[in-house]
Amino acid sequence: MSPNELPQHEELVDEKLVISFFLAALGYLFVSMLGGFLMALQLIRHFPFPGVELLSPGRWRMIHTNVVAYGFLANAFLGALHWAVPRLTLRTVLSKRLSWFIFAAWQVVVLSTAIGIMLGQAQALEWGETPVWIDPLALAGLLLVAVNFMAPISRLTGPMYVTLWYFMAAFVWTFLTYAMGNFMPQYFVTGTAAGAVGGLFIHDLVGLFVTPLGWGLMYYFVPIMLKKPIWSHGLSLVGFWGLAFFYPLNGIHHFLYTPIPMFLQYAAIVATIAVELVVTTVLINFFATLKGSMSALVTNMPIRWFYSGMVFYFLTCLQCSFQTTLTFQALIHFTDWVVGHAHMVMFGVFSFWLLGVMTYLFPRLLKTEWASQKMLSWHYWLSLVGITLMSADLIVAGPFQGYSWAQLLPWEVSIELSIPFWAVRLVAGLLMFSGLLVFLTNIGLTWAKSRKLSHVAANV
Ligand code: HEM
Repeated sequence: MSPNELPQHEELVDEKLVISFFLAALGYLFVSMLGGFLMALQLIRHFPFPGVELLSPGRWRMIHTNVVAYGFLANAFLGALHWAVPRLTLRTVLSKRLSWFIFAAWQVVVLSTAIGIMLGQAQALEWGETPVWIDPLALAGLLLVAVNFMAPISRLTGPMYVTLWYFMAAFVWTFLTYAMGNFMPQYFVTGTAAGAVGGLFIHDLVGLFVTPLGWGLMYYFVPIMLKKPIWSHGLSLVGFWGLAFFYPLNGIHHFLYTPIPMFLQYAAIVATIAVELVVTTVLINFFATLKGSMSALVTNMPIRWFYSGMVFYFLTCLQCSFQTTLTFQALIHFTDWVVGHAHMVMFGVFSFWLLGVMTYLFPRLLKTEWASQKMLSWHYWLSLVGITLMSADLIVAGPFQGYSWAQLLPWEVSIELSIPFWAVRLVAGLLMFSGLLVFLTNIGLTWAKSRKLSHVAANV
């Protein structure tokens, strides 16, 4: 194809759709955080709605996690994919109408999940709480997403950039993971076998859905912003295949010391430690790419979000390779250590990357610079300080709780000693929430500015 024949950006990318996915994602993040507050307040004995069943903290805890995963992360990824895939393949998705249908259908899935959980219809599966009647719809949605994006990718000839390897794998893996996790333990397997499948599901949701999409986006956006190729293409493939090989073996590390056969537990532990080695190769690649462009960490806000997320990624995987050992598990299992770890990975890594992508794309989508650079900075710092405080606080709380249980102290003792930590978590959450409010305000101001500019241009 000669440069003149290349399709234009406007033909490739439906910008309104990208904006819609991003706004839906941010709306769900807002709701999810409110759910986090309800549970956090309950833990420090200040629940504001006693006796109101629909607002029960137990149900809102599930809404918090489900809405963050399927409402915020999935919508934000879909928005970013609708930008990146057509631009990378120079081909449109299979059908833009199908994309809009997926957008609408996905919101129905997420809203029905939240309402179903609120009404007490949660499915008894960790991370698979989506009521059973919604599962087939969600699975059909994932199939449509895969078909829509695989069409442009499959028409490519020649070598494929690593981002597309990750994306293709994510489309197939997410579909299979969802099908396995939501249907097998519900209808086909029971007992420890169901536990093993559940562990695999929980872990693969992180490892085979958000991780490949997240890294795929990093491999796409970082070289564009730093204006240079990734340091080593070979190393990027080591990272991809390492993830594909080791991640699916990790699942059982969620259920150590259970009746699941011990050889499977040992295999999961070794595979978990191996993931840390794989992750190190990926990080070496990204930091070597950054070499010579370190000033971008100061001058380029999306790059700052991306690399902060990578540091958190390294820390969570390092933490994981310790917490997966049987010695550590005996102490920290069921404690807030795990909750600290979960927030660090979900917010500190994947949300940071997606917020970085949005920080980069909103001005391009709205055709104007950000209304306030200061607000961008506030958003970043409030989020960074908030998540660092929240993770550190909960990770420190974990051993206190673990030791109090190991000493067979009365249960109330562990509650009493946890309350100061839970109070700090609430403050950390407020910082993160304030960051989100600043970001939403900045988007609103930028949108108003872009409307004003287009109005002026139309009248000139
Ligand atoms: C306003 C900020 C937030 C607050 C106050 C908050 C609070 C909470 C609380 C109280 C729990 C339940 C912990 C328990 O059962 O002991 C929880 C769980 C969880 N939250 Fe948040 N959260 C916030 C933001 C987020 C964000 C932004 C994410 C992801 C992007 C997130 C991801 C999770 C996950 C994955 C869990 C499950 C942890 C586990 O089961 O180990 N949270 N959160």
